[in-house]
Amino acid sequence: MSAVSSKSIRGVFTTSVISNRQVGQRFYKLKLEFSGAAAKAFAGFRPGQFIQLDLSSAAIPSYEKIPEDLADTAKRQVLLRRPFSFTDVTIQRDKTVAELLYRIVGPATLRMTTLSAGGLVSVIGPLGNGFRIVQEKKTAILIIGGMGAPPIQCLAKLLTTSYSDTEVIVFAGAKTANQLPFENKLDEISQQLGFSLPEFARFGVKSQIATDDGSAGYHGLVTDCLEQWLRENSEMVRDEIIIYACGPEAMLAKVARIAEQNKIDCQVSMERMMACGIGLCQSCAVECRVNGSIETVYKLCCEDGPVFDGGEVFFSL
Ligand SMILES: Cc1cc2nc3c(=O)[nH]c(=O)nc-3n(C[C@H](O)[C@H](O)[C@H](O)COP(=O)(O)OP(=O)(O)OC[C@H]3O[C@@H](n4cnc5c(N)ncnc54)[C@H](O)[C@@H]3O)c2cc1C
Ligand code: FES
Repeated sequence: MSAVSSKSIRGVFTTSVISNRQVGQRFYKLKLEFSGAAAKAFAGFRPGQFIQLDLSSAAIPSYEKIPEDLADTAKRQVLLRRPFSFTDVTIQRDKTVAELLYRIVGPATLRMTTLSAGGLVSVIGPLGNGFRIVQEKKTAILIIGGMGAPPIQCLAKLLTTSYSDTEVIVFAGAKTANQLPFENKLDEISQQLGFSLPEFARFGVKSQIATDDGSAGYHGLVTDCLEQWLRENSEMVRDEIIIYACGPEAMLAKVARIAEQNKIDCQVSMERMMACGIGLCQSCAVECRVNGSIETVYKLCCEDGPVFDGGEVFFSL
């Protein structure tokens, strides 16, 4: 079985901001432009890889733009870079344009909202190992939990543009509808047709939304929705399916378990607090199984991951 993955050259680069706009209550989209050596390095970016963004000198938003629950942490210094994935990477002649979707959760993401067109920002990347494409698979099931959306959006584009023999279907879950990190998510006509999310419909990819409180789509966990779909499609040869997932660890643990029970190959993108992002600080350990043994070893999320085989990760949840 051939898996396609390649690591691009990484470096520290200065990029310029093309735009930074609010797309939801706490969600923003930031567009960055890479030129010169950076354009080349990021042209090889794989879905699931990430960057470390330096926000230490970004301004704090004005008082009225800071959500009440973040008022205390807003003034905290942002000494360490922060990891982010891309939703989209486009190569345009001598430059590479990348889009990042982020949710405001603390001081760094708050400061990120003040970046504006024409500003400069330092990034390290591309970092880590992205999703490995297994060309023989006929169906790719992409699972999103909340802010797990960015690398999965990037992957959907790669699969539909470069591996068009693979059918792609997306399941996206969140606690409530307004925590789904998408724009225009409730277009009723497209939802009736199964093309619920425009972000995927534009690649001809059907998507199913699940919310814990039933405020949009399937009422329940996205993993229950996946299990229901697998039951309804029991005739599909399990060996011809692959699952790619990104989201909270409890969801990933369940996805890996469902994949194992159904004998479906599965890759999960893990999240850890990352101080350096380049294998130096050892702060991002992921406990992994050792093949054919009951022992476990610790791997680094930033260097060995963030994408791991679902069966490799020792989930303690
Ligand atoms: C590989 C990778 C890719 C990522 N891609 C994206 C992305 O595309 N968009 C996006 O919005 N976010 C992404 N994140 C998460 C993002 O890095 C954090 O939200 C960000 O660092 C928060 O910084 P802050 O200073 O605003 O908040 P902080 O004060 O640093 O954190 C706020 C809260 O979020 C929790 N938290 C922060 N980072 C993590 C983490 N890595 N794992 C678990 N909990 C965490 C903290 O414990 C704290 O409770 C990614 C993380 C990783 C590891
Ligand atoms: S973040 Fe420093 S080793 Fe992974």
